[in-house]
Amino acid sequence: MTAKIINGTEIARQIREELKQEVAELKSRYSLTPGLATVLVGDDPASKVYVGAKEKACSELGMYSERHDIPGNSTEEEVLALVEKLNQDPKIHGILVQMPLPKHINETRILYAINPKKDVDGFHPVSLGKLMIGEPDFIPCTPHGIQQLLIRSGVKVEGAEVVVIGRSNIVGKPIANILLQKKPGANATVTLCHTGTRDIKSHTLRADIIIAAAGKPNTVTADMVREGVVVIDVGVNEIGKTADGKRILVGDVDFEKVKEKASAITPVPGGVGPMTITMLMLNTVKAAKISRGLS
Ligand SMILES: NC(=O)c1ccc[n+]([C@@H]2O[C@H](COP(=O)([O-])OP(=O)(O)OC[C@H]3O[C@@H](n4cnc5c(N)ncnc54)[C@H](OP(=O)(O)O)[C@@H]3O)[C@@H](O)[C@H]2O)c1
Repeated sequence: MTAKIINGTEIARQIREELKQEVAELKSRYSLTPGLATVLVGDDPASKVYVGAKEKACSELGMYSERHDIPGNSTEEEVLALVEKLNQDPKIHGILVQMPLPKHINETRILYAINPKKDVDGFHPVSLGKLMIGEPDFIPCTPHGIQQLLIRSGVKVEGAEVVVIGRSNIVGKPIANILLQKKPGANATVTLCHTGTRDIKSHTLRADIIIAAAGKPNTVTADMVREGVVVIDVGVNEIGKTADGKRILVGDVDFEKVKEKASAITPVPGGVGPMTITMLMLNTVKAAKISRGLS
């Protein structure tokens, strides 16, 4: 069997097209323009690229965006004051503070300061708590993107044995919580593996769906999967540079060998990656609707 490749770029494009229409309708019917504020502290080159991509996505969808780039030596109090100003700003429906923050700033304190109604990253404890009890407002973007990849590729999640590798607060724990809810596109039996798991292969071998989010190349190899499995590879690992200095990226899965056994698999790049910013846009549109009682 050679796997169907799950094309995250194409699925993200479809969702953005839907969002573009929704934004146009919100503007024309309710004079409501969803607005996202990004906060970048310092000048980390990768963070600058991410923030730029988020701004670009807003503009492509007809949304309002505001960028707050502040110096790396800003104090925690200054960042908190900016967050508070954005909490109060009616033009802003979503606030995204780009992580990581400089070491002298307590990330948790900043995260907790964001009004949960504007928490479009979905990392505030209120958002995560609501996700856990099955009443989410904002689902963290990468795991939400993973669920959409599965649903929109026609993968049957209901009743499936899902094995997640990795238990971070931004990927592993939320995707496990999303897929175990008694809801369409979920209702799976979920096993969460991590470095304390005794025998990961004994779990992956019985999985219908494997979600690899360990951040280590070759965490999932062909001997660890059964024929027909669906594999979602979240990992992004740099394994070197090309002669012209471009980063060589691989996922957590031995793609070439695993794709010969899987029924469907995401590539890296072009799988989960393109979904993350798209789901941030979706959350911002949702936040705007919530602000007017439309959601
Ligand atoms: N495409 C995207 O948009 C996107 C978004 C977010 C993250 N990512 C990528 O996804 C990967 C994971 O990100 P993260 O932030 O969740 O990473 P993280 O915070 O470093 O967490 C990694 C998790 O994997 C577990 N783990 C590590 N090695 C393992 C192994 N050999 N076997 C079993 N479990 C193992 C760790 O276990 P312990 O808890 O026991 O240490 C931890 O729970 C990274 O490559 C990251 O770049 C991609």
